[in-house]
Amino acid sequence: KDDLIILGIETSCDDTAAAVVRGNGEILSQVVSSQADLLAKYGGVAPKMAEEAHSLAIDPVVQEALHKANLTERDLSAVAVTIGPGLSLCLRVGVQKARKIAGQFNLPIVGVHHMEAHALVARQWLTMTRMQNDFLDLFNNIHIGQKDTSGHNLLVLAHNLGQYTQLGTTIDDAIGEAFDKTAKWLGLDMRRSGGPAVEKLALEGDAESVKFSTPMKQHKDCNFSYAGLKTQVRLAIESKNIDSRIPISSTSCQDRKSRANIAASFQRVAVLHLEERCERAIEWALKIEPSIKHLVVSGGVASNKYVRARLDRAVKNNSLQLVCPPPSLCTDNGVMVAWTGIEHFCVGRFDPPPPADDPEDFM
Ligand code: KG4
Ligand code: ZN
Repeated sequence: KDDLIILGIETSCDDTAAAVVRGNGEILSQVVSSQADLLAKYGGVAPKMAEEAHSLAIDPVVQEALHKANLTERDLSAVAVTIGPGLSLCLRVGVQKARKIAGQFNLPIVGVHHMEAHALVARQWLTMTRMQNDFLDLFNNIHIGQKDTSGHNLLVLAHNLGQYTQLGTTIDDAIGEAFDKTAKWLGLDMRRSGGPAVEKLALEGDAESVKFSTPMKQHKDCNFSYAGLKTQVRLAIESKNIDSRIPISSTSCQDRKSRANIAASFQRVAVLHLEERCERAIEWALKIEPSIKHLVVSGGVASNKYVRARLDRAVKNNSLQLVCPPPSLCTDNGVMVAWTGIEHFCVGRFDPPPPADDPEDFM
């Protein structure tokens, strides 16, 4: 396994990312080029713009990943690439690049599911931090975070590689979308995506000041719904006469305080919904697999400290352990794709090298 070296490519949303990872989990390089400026300008991901930005970034990002790892394409064992879910125009850029390299250098190719990659990177991280080779053989994972219409919240019970029982999913908007819209409407700086800006502003606010109702209280399941909370936030902003076009940096003290109160109250309720779903999911999961020990949380929203603290509490109440990779592995990245590629490659799940003269339009 130590001899295995895989390049991972991720272009499903607005980050062009590549990484080179060794079979034992060692990260040889990691490069992310984010479309922060575009995001700030359009207040969200515009697929056509994102595609163009990926097309410009993909060659230099992959080159830099190889260069930082001190390797060339010839040293690779395989190429892994995200094939979905995500924006198809964007996914296409990564897949074309992966197929080009694989065709040219006669390398196998591993198609990776974005959500599985978010989940499995926890195993790479645990392997590295605990300096041991025994992976979690059973874990329950939730992925939280999204930015576009293809975004998801997913709660799954993982039995084995490729064997998952879905416990809950998004029925309308995901939590990341709610964070992003809240940030936009509060006039926050979106350059690092909305979530971190809301988290920061929430520290200045009173989380009990605006009475938002918790979504889907009456639905005793593990599904997520954030569309209603988004509407509640919009109405609260309107009722406080907050002008979203005025950036928070240019508002009065009082206006800033009411924006902070909305941010804090939104975050509290958004995370409460998450906690409730996770607690129920743990209950369900323990009935199916009484031996589960971990709740793995990954995806962009999992880098939020309040989310981590609340879920940690919920998990400890059930005598489980929370596993949460560091933010650089939680938001979209190439390592998670390379690692998932390694896992699949090791059990023989990969495609043979494409022809070197691969036609451009294959999808
Ligand atoms: O997994 P991810 O990087 O991309 C997708 O798969 O779409 O997740 C991005 C999402 C965005 O909605 C972003 O606002 C959110 O994760 N996010 C956060 C934080 N950091 C990123 N949400 C709340 N608090 C954060 N600190
Ligand atoms: Zn993601």
